[in-house]
Amino acid sequence: MDGVQGMGMRKVGSQSSLVEPEDYDLSRLLDKPRLKIERKRSFDERSLSELSIGGNLRGVDSYENMHSPAGGPRSGFNTPGSSCRNSFEPHPIIGDAWQALRDSLVYFRGQPVGTIAAVDHQSEELLNYDQVFVRDFVPSGLAFLMNGEPEIVKNFLLKTLHLQGWEKTIDRFELGAGVMPASFKVLHNPIKKTDTLIADFGESAIGRVAPVDSGFWWIILLRAYTKSTGDTSLADSPECQKGMHLILALCLSEGFDTFPTLLCADGCSMIDRRMGIYGYPIEIQALFFMALRSALPMLSHDGEGKEFIEKIVKRLHALSYHMRSYFWIDFQQLNDIYRYKTEEYSHTAVNKFNVIPDSIPDWVFDFMPCRGGYFIGNVSPARMDFRWFCLGNCVAILSSLATPEQSMAIMDLIEERWEELVGEMPLKICYPAIDNHEWRIVTGCDPKNTRWSYHNGGSWPVLLWLLTAACIKTGRPQIARRAIELGESRFAKDGWPEYYDGKLGRYVGKQARKFQTWSISGYLVAKMMLEDPSHIGMVSLEEDRAMKPLLKRSSSSTF
Ligand code: GLC
Repeated sequence: MDGVQGMGMRKVGSQSSLVEPEDYDLSRLLDKPRLKIERKRSFDERSLSELSIGGNLRGVDSYENMHSPAGGPRSGFNTPGSSCRNSFEPHPIIGDAWQALRDSLVYFRGQPVGTIAAVDHQSEELLNYDQVFVRDFVPSGLAFLMNGEPEIVKNFLLKTLHLQGWEKTIDRFELGAGVMPASFKVLHNPIKKTDTLIADFGESAIGRVAPVDSGFWWIILLRAYTKSTGDTSLADSPECQKGMHLILALCLSEGFDTFPTLLCADGCSMIDRRMGIYGYPIEIQALFFMALRSALPMLSHDGEGKEFIEKIVKRLHALSYHMRSYFWIDFQQLNDIYRYKTEEYSHTAVNKFNVIPDSIPDWVFDFMPCRGGYFIGNVSPARMDFRWFCLGNCVAILSSLATPEQSMAIMDLIEERWEELVGEMPLKICYPAIDNHEWRIVTGCDPKNTRWSYHNGGSWPVLLWLLTAACIKTGRPQIARRAIELGESRFAKDGWPEYYDGKLGRYVGKQARKFQTWSISGYLVAKMMLEDPSHIGMVSLEEDRAMKPLLKRSSSSTF
C-alpha cells in the first residue's frame, strides 16, 4: 500500500527541539532493547522531548518548559488543600468548587480511592451516579495532580487495577481479562465496620454496554501521574505492567479487521447509550491512539513488554495514517466526497469505502466553513458519520493524532462555528442533534436522548477541560477563556449540572444531575491549566516524527 511506504519516510522539517531527532523516533524503540534503569531515563528523555515544539504550534514551548514534577500543593487558588496564592485573582466559585470536589471523595478502608459521579441530594433516583466511574474520575484525578495531591490518583489506579483482576461474567459469558470496570462502589458496613467493593464491567449498566474507554483512560491517567510526580515506580511495578499488558492484549489482538481502527459496539464510551456510534467511533479511536502512545514509554523492554512495544509502534503508524486520511474532512475533502464515483473495484479506487454521495447529510454542507476541518464521527464501508464529536477531536489534538495543521483547523472550526458548538453554555458533546425518524431508528426512541439533550447534542461542562487543553496546546488560550467565562456565569448558580439542553445549550438538562463531579473538576482543571499552562504536559503528547509525513490522499487534499 502506498501509505505504508509513505509512513516510513521521515521529515524533520522546521521543528525546534530540545533533543536530538533520534531521541524521538518511535521506530528506534524497536531495535533498542534497554535495561530497566535506562528505560527510566527513556521516560525522562521522552518527557523532555515532549517539551519540543511542533513548528506550527504556537506557544507550547514556554508552557511545557515550565512543567516540573509536583512538589506539594501548587494551585494558585486558595483551596482546602492549598494555602499558597499568587497574583492570579481566583474566581469566587473556585473555593466552593474545590469543596464540592472534596465532598465527592469516596474512601475505602480510610483511604480516598475515587470521586462519586454526582453528589445530588435532590435526585430521588440514584441509578449508578453514586459510583466512581473510571472516565469521570479522570478530570478529578488531574485536578488533584495539578494541586500536588497525587496519593488519591495512585490509590485509584491501584484499586481499579485490582478490580481488573476479578473474574467478569455477563450471564454465562466471561469477559476479557483486560477489561477495566465502567464504575465501582464502596459498600460500608457500619456494624461490622468493613468496606467491600462492587464493580460494574457492563453487566449491570443500562443496556449492558461495554466500557471500552475505561482501560484507555486508565493508561492515560497512569502516564499523567508519572509525568506529574516524576515517580516511575508505580508504572514500573509488575502489577501495573501486567495491567497494561492485559489492556493492550484486548485492543491489539488479531482478528478479521481490514482497518487499524478499533471495532466497537454502540454505547462503548462517554456516550454510553445507543446513539449510532457503533463501528469505529472517533472518541474510541482517539483514546486508543493516545493510550498506545502513553503506554509506549512506560512499558518495560523485556519479554512481553517488548512484544507489545513492537505491536504498538506498528499499529500507531497504520492508525495515524488511516485516521488522518479517512476520518479527516474539510471543505475541499467534502467537495471531493460529494463528487465521488461509486462501485470502484481494486486498489486504484479513490472512493475506497464506497461512500454514496447521496448519503451526505444536508446540514454538513452549511456547517463546513471554508476555514477549518475536523475528524468525523465514524468511517466504515459505505458509512461516514459526519457528526462532530467534541471529545474525539480534542483528544486527537492532545495525542497528536491530528497533525499540527489539522489541530489548527479544528480550532478554526470551533471559532467559525462557535454558536453551534459552544453556544450559550459550553460545550456540545456532538453536533448536530438527530431528530424524528432518524432519532427513532438510531436511538431506538430513547426519551433521554431527544434532540439537543444529553448525548444527542447536549452541552457538557466536563468537556471544558479538554477544550482548554486543546486550546493551550495549539496556542489559542483565548478560545478557552471565552468558553470558561460562559460557564462561570452559570455553572455554580445552576448547581453544576451534568449537561445543558437546547440548540444553544441554554437550559439545564431535562434529567441532568446536579453537583455532577466531573462538571466541577473539569472546570477546575480548565482553570488550573490556564493559570499554569505547564500542566498541559500531563495530558499532551507532541507529534512523533516517525509518523510524519502523510502521503497526500488525493491531489486536492490539503494534508
Ligand atoms: C452517564 C454518562 C457517562 C458517565 C456517567 C456517570 O451515563 O453518559 O459518560 O460516565 O453518566 O457520570
